[in-house]
Amino acid sequence: MSASINWDTLGFDAYRTRTVILSHYKDGQWSPIEKTETFSFTFDPFAQVFHYAISCFEGLKAFRQKDGRISLFRPDQNAARMARTADYLGMPCPSKEMFVKMCELCVENNLEFLAPYGHKASLYIRPLLVGMHPQMQLVPYPEAIFAVMCAPAGSYYGAHLRSCAAVIPGDFDRAAPKGSGSYKIGANYAATFRPYKYAHEQGYAELLYLNSSTREFVDEFGSSNFFGIKGNKYVTPLSDSVLPSITNLTLQQVARDFGMEVEKRPVPLEELAEFEEAGGCGTAVVITPMSHIDIKPVLAEPLVSRSFRYEPDGQVGPACTKLYNRIVGIQFGELEDTHGWCHYWLD
Ligand SMILES: Cc1ncc(COP(=O)(O)O)c(C=O)c1O
Repeated sequence: MSASINWDTLGFDAYRTRTVILSHYKDGQWSPIEKTETFSFTFDPFAQVFHYAISCFEGLKAFRQKDGRISLFRPDQNAARMARTADYLGMPCPSKEMFVKMCELCVENNLEFLAPYGHKASLYIRPLLVGMHPQMQLVPYPEAIFAVMCAPAGSYYGAHLRSCAAVIPGDFDRAAPKGSGSYKIGANYAATFRPYKYAHEQGYAELLYLNSSTREFVDEFGSSNFFGIKGNKYVTPLSDSVLPSITNLTLQQVARDFGMEVEKRPVPLEELAEFEEAGGCGTAVVITPMSHIDIKPVLAEPLVSRSFRYEPDGQVGPACTKLYNRIVGIQFGELEDTHGWCHYWLD
């Protein structure tokens, strides 16, 4: 069965599918896994999540492949990253087995929202862990809800790989030097809503953040990691404030498979002038090639103090194209999955 969705025009939006999978943690244990079709949860108004933003999430995708099989892409990596984030927040976290099982159930119970093969669409899975305990004190408490929901997804910026503009805001930072930037906590994203509003109003698809202590190095985009291509090198920032992107990890391996050199090291702002191609990488986008990256001392003001140019608007360089095609080819089962990244569980 297939939902009445135009798979070819899908973007990346919240979408009410059929089933949410969930479990509660209380009194030292997870409740049996439940399914709900009501899409409504009950929370105490004093719950940690509302007052102190005790909340984290993950994002991964399921694909219907060329031979009809369904796969999840590297769910074990998302399970491990959520465990790291939950530990940072002092939250209980599902085991890797439970995390993966609930993602599988989410796909199985929403299969009509997973596009048939051939539309470049997928099912985006959003595991969410929120603190439920009613309290005023600033102390961790082991009570939470773990819910896995999903939404049909096309590619984030449109159906085809095309380059976009990004802006470096001179008056906004994403993460404090010894703060929470490398964890996937909801609060990190709250701080990006205002600069994103300014950026989008001016036609920029992305924000590129610098390290906030000295503003001399590139950290990452608001919703993806940064990489640059210089000759045969794939270069990506080493920084304590950057989210460890699973797509970036995958791209680094794919780049090595192509015989490229991979450098993970601090990337000085000045080096943006030396890259032939630059892009963002993440689950939603795989790769967003950059046409240009502007620096704006004050994001809401018109002045652009410097611009780094890569591709004419909409066009995509050869390295981005080949890296993207390799990953998407593996995800859709068109190319051999030599690293065992596709997770299969259905007959
Ligand atoms: C801030 C940030 N950096 C990087 C990424 C990319 O991570 P991943 O490749 O695991 O999706 C994301 C999420 O997609 C993100 O929100």
